[in-house]
Amino acid sequence: MYYSLAPMDWITDIAYRQIVKEVFEKYNDDKNKELLLFTEFVSADGFVHNFDWVKNHLLFEGNEHPIICQIFWSNLQKLLYTAKEIDEKYNFDGIDLNVWCPAPKIMRQWAGSALMIDKENTLKMIKILSDSISKPFSIKTRAGINSSDKEKQFKFIVRASEFCDLISVHARTLNQWHSGEADLDYVLKLKKRINPNCKLIFNWWVNEETLSDKNFLEKVSNLDWIMIGQAAIWNPWIFVWINPSWNEKREVIWKHINLSVKYKWERRWVVEFRKFIWTYIKWVKNASKYRMEFMKVDNLEDFKNILFNI
Ligand SMILES: Cc1cc2nc3c(=O)[nH]c(=O)nc-3n(C[C@H](O)[C@H](O)[C@H](O)COP(=O)(O)O)c2cc1C
Repeated sequence: MYYSLAPMDWITDIAYRQIVKEVFEKYNDDKNKELLLFTEFVSADGFVHNFDWVKNHLLFEGNEHPIICQIFWSNLQKLLYTAKEIDEKYNFDGIDLNVWCPAPKIMRQWAGSALMIDKENTLKMIKILSDSISKPFSIKTRAGINSSDKEKQFKFIVRASEFCDLISVHARTLNQWHSGEADLDYVLKLKKRINPNCKLIFNWWVNEETLSDKNFLEKVSNLDWIMIGQAAIWNPWIFVWINPSWNEKREVIWKHINLSVKYKWERRWVVEFRKFIWTYIKWVKNASKYRMEFMKVDNLEDFKNILFNI
């Protein structure tokens, strides 16, 4: 069983993926083990009409393989154009369609989770996309729209597995929103039913606690991959089960913010980095005092002064 870093918009950009990968390479002692990375989701509508807006999401470095580029939208022509362009012009290891996102602004475009509504049409799109590119094709989806949709969604995933090389399943329904138990058994049952050539990723709230639960680990060992999202935001060491010293953590934070500056200076990087620092310093003594200080800085020098005085 392998690990995957979940696609997370505004989090798993080129800078953070490199941090996660570097930590993984440093500590992973099993050469057969891989960490699968995903890009943030890339709008096919943006790719077609406003490339400047999405181009940062398509950046990656050679050391990030295996890396899958995730796209989203509802219009087949735009998805097809985007998938083909990415297939031909970028060296990603695969292309993933988002059948997951619950955000109202995405669903209003009939994209993301809304693709679970007309499953027949979505299956047709999946087949066309998969047939039209040379790279592996995958989807990321959920256990359904609500509890009464779970069985239909199960059949949808089984059928989609005929056209996909990989499927990530977030083991909760759309209606469960941010609460409710993950249905691990649903995913284990899927594993037995899907096309054996299609790999399966389990996703939902894998964290330090679940990773130390022997019962959970034994169950998921029957799956191909487990995907970690939120628990990895402040903890790139989660994939190698390391609890780093503060000195090591500080070096990583410093490297992370410098990489963010290198790749996306135009995104008001130091201000944006607040989302990471908030959780990175979670266990530091007087964390709230330092957080307040970090909230006021907007340049690297001041950031460094606070960081290296902790
Ligand atoms: C800030 C944030 C951004 C996300 N962006 C995406 C995205 O772009 N594409 C996607 O498929 N899922 C996205 N997700 C969902 C995660 O990939 C994952 O499915 C979800 O967080 C549940 O896994 P977890 O419990 O390990 O966090 C996002 C989640 C978060 C918290």
